[in-house]
Amino acid sequence: MARQDGFGSSFGTLIALIGSAVGLGNLWRFPYLVGTNGGAAFIIIYLICVVFLCLPGMISEFVIGRRSQQDVYGAFKVLAPGSKWKYAGLVCVLGVTTVLSFYCVVGGWTIDYLIKAIGMKFSVADQGAFNNIFTSVSTSSTKNTFYMLIFLVCTCAVVLMGVKNGIEKCNKVMMPVLFVLLIVIMVRSLTLPGSGEGMKFLFKPDWSKVTTSTVIAALGQGFFSLSLGCGTIITYASYSNKKDNLFKTSGLTALADTMVAILASIAIMPSVFSYGISPTQGPGLAFVTLPYVFANMPFGWLMGILFFFIMFIAAISSSISLLEVMVAYLIEEFKANRMKATLLSFSVVLILGTLCALSQGALSGVHIFKKNIFDFFDFISANVLMTGGGLLAVLFVGWRLSKKDFKDEFTSSGKYNYSPWFLSTVLLLIKYLAPIGVALIMINGLI
Ligand code: PHE
Repeated sequence: MARQDGFGSSFGTLIALIGSAVGLGNLWRFPYLVGTNGGAAFIIIYLICVVFLCLPGMISEFVIGRRSQQDVYGAFKVLAPGSKWKYAGLVCVLGVTTVLSFYCVVGGWTIDYLIKAIGMKFSVADQGAFNNIFTSVSTSSTKNTFYMLIFLVCTCAVVLMGVKNGIEKCNKVMMPVLFVLLIVIMVRSLTLPGSGEGMKFLFKPDWSKVTTSTVIAALGQGFFSLSLGCGTIITYASYSNKKDNLFKTSGLTALADTMVAILASIAIMPSVFSYGISPTQGPGLAFVTLPYVFANMPFGWLMGILFFFIMFIAAISSSISLLEVMVAYLIEEFKANRMKATLLSFSVVLILGTLCALSQGALSGVHIFKKNIFDFFDFISANVLMTGGGLLAVLFVGWRLSKKDFKDEFTSSGKYNYSPWFLSTVLLLIKYLAPIGVALIMINGLI
């Protein structure tokens, strides 16, 4: 069936891909991983993982999506007709459903924090108070469910407007705003007294903190941050133009995503150091340490508003890409219209998201494999479904798709020329290094 909707330009595709990639992974997870894994040492390892493992993964998914011009299930079905490969698409659909369910809960926290920042609720001066705020935000059943619902409704509203008029247009506004505001926060952070210590931490590697698990954490972070393994790249690529430069678009997406992660760390670490707080706080960094720091710095209230606003933008541009995978699947495989497909996806995510939202409150007694529901969803998506989907995608392009087809798609049917050794290197990375890397994240996570 010919596509009726798609991205309007190569810039539209790029900005939507960046919107998907830039998310809570960049603003929340990356900085705290840098903090707990030896600062610059982690950043260097991360960069290597992105270039040699994650970028080949992204190129593979791009090739699958653009070659097939189909939703994630249809893509494997069209490229490997009559085979079992189509089930790889189902793994991706399951993956996005679980990721979206807990992502919406965290997205809801960003709304809750934004409202608190606007209402100047961060004016208390001791750090314990911020721990209590976070505990009350993450354990309150009603608030968690309410804000998750608002976040999900906003996501659905954009997806409902379509690929070109909804997803593309919104990202074209949101991404530049995010970038500019991040720079504003960064400048504030760098002009605080004592911020130099934070910069030293970020750019002077401490190799003593590096272990095998640092490398695997960097790899897993790159994989999540580039939105690999759950069909978002496949789906977005399927809406892109055949004439676009596939390598350039993937490379720029990875570059922009990495830049935002590093800028976010520069926006956070110097302030944390300036207030004499240890950078190794872990996941509480964005939701406990930073509000405390903002409460104490000059113009901090404004920085708090800006920071939680960009957290919200980053989260929603990613959740839109997750939901679109489900919606495209329902539209193309079940001939649903966009309205019906969005409503059905909304209902499924609402049910699962509510379970996640209640998992630290009313349902805190419910455990699956010794984890509460939220943690279980996080675990199963990161270690089984996303890694599984990502592994299948690289294996598919490396071993199932013919070299001729790969080359044809990668070069836009010969429009862009690459030397034979470059093409062979990319293919070699896809065939061997990327699958080994993804398998390592999977095994490490499961053990
Ligand atoms: N890349 C997003 C982030 O960094 C998360 C995401 C994962 C989005 C998978 C889509 C698909 O937060």
